Amino acid sequence: MTIVLAIETSCDETAVAIVNNRKVLGNVVASQIEIHREFGGVVPEVASRQHLESINSCIAEALGQAGLGWDRIEAIAATCAPGLVGALFVGVSAAKTLAMVHNKPFVGVHHLEGHIYASYLSQPDLEPPFLCLLVSGGHTSLIEVRSCGDYELLGQTRDDAAGEAFDKVARLLGVGYPGGAVIDRLAKSGDPKAFPLPEGKISLPNGAGYHPYDCSFSGLKTAVLRLVQKLTAASDEPLPVADIAASFQYTVAKALTKRAVRCAQDRGLSTIVVGGGVAANSGLREMLSTTAAAAGIAVHFPPLKFCTDNAAMIACAATEHFARGDRSAFEMPVHSRMPITEVSELYAVGRD
Ligand code: KG4
Ligand code: ZN
Repeated sequence: MTIVLAIETSCDETAVAIVNNRKVLGNVVASQIEIHREFGGVVPEVASRQHLESINSCIAEALGQAGLGWDRIEAIAATCAPGLVGALFVGVSAAKTLAMVHNKPFVGVHHLEGHIYASYLSQPDLEPPFLCLLVSGGHTSLIEVRSCGDYELLGQTRDDAAGEAFDKVARLLGVGYPGGAVIDRLAKSGDPKAFPLPEGKISLPNGAGYHPYDCSFSGLKTAVLRLVQKLTAASDEPLPVADIAASFQYTVAKALTKRAVRCAQDRGLSTIVVGGGVAANSGLREMLSTTAAAAGIAVHFPPLKFCTDNAAMIACAATEHFARGDRSAFEMPVHSRMPITEVSELYAVGRD
């Protein structure tokens, strides 16, 4: 039994959770979406200030939900990379202070490891090795997870992340912010085959075909822009936003599904674990589940509320590291960037 309190403040959600192994005892997410909506995106300074205002009440609420006092918490974790530096700093400072005051170990967590382990919250027996398809607002990667901390990056986007593409297409369709969930909802009443769109293949040198795992979403975004311009010039009718949303979503889901299934097959992996905000996408969930099942590959998606940023997934990742004896130094800084293959740097303090 390991009870971990985790804090996540890497972007625009102030989140605190208490998790006992894979069981969530308390989970609080204070979203700043409404505050950033008027700017059409996250404003870093505003985010940091808002985290500072919310953090103490979120911690108190999570402890209240769990019905636990500090004596029952075994470790305190916080996301310390990658993310907005000022935002990360608020959560990490709070976690370090609490760890010092209550004499608990501090475990720093890489945000993407949180997304990788989010599926653990509904899968008590899931263990590596598996292939992780990580699709968030900032990342689109295929990562072979051999064990906790042992990762190999096999494929990635060459430009926009999948979530970023959803957000940009939603903006150009004028349907709202943040875009992923809105496109998903609109797509349900649209025809995914209405407008064929380019999938964003990456050519290999010397005409050697296409990269099997890397992808690109900036060409797809431009194709949607051109389509919108063409339709607007040709007619005064309202834009067929549902059909455009469905066609776009179908194209993204197809690009991700093809690469993930091919990669798992090539590496001899029988399980795909999906993580990140785009893991909530209904089109991707359906297409990847069906295609992988036909290939004899199991697929796990996190429960919907643990796809987008939350602290329960950070607690899961911290629990894995804690079990291996990984501890972080109180002097450890936050990092705006850090490849997932370098997570061991967070535990430079060594083992118990
Ligand atoms: O993982 P996340 O919460 O934050 C990052 O670490 O980036 O992902 C946020 C991204 C946003 O781009 C958002 O539009 C996208 O996830 N997203 C979705 C859906 N829900 C959130 N994209 C597609 N379909 C959804 N249902
Ligand atoms: Zn995230």
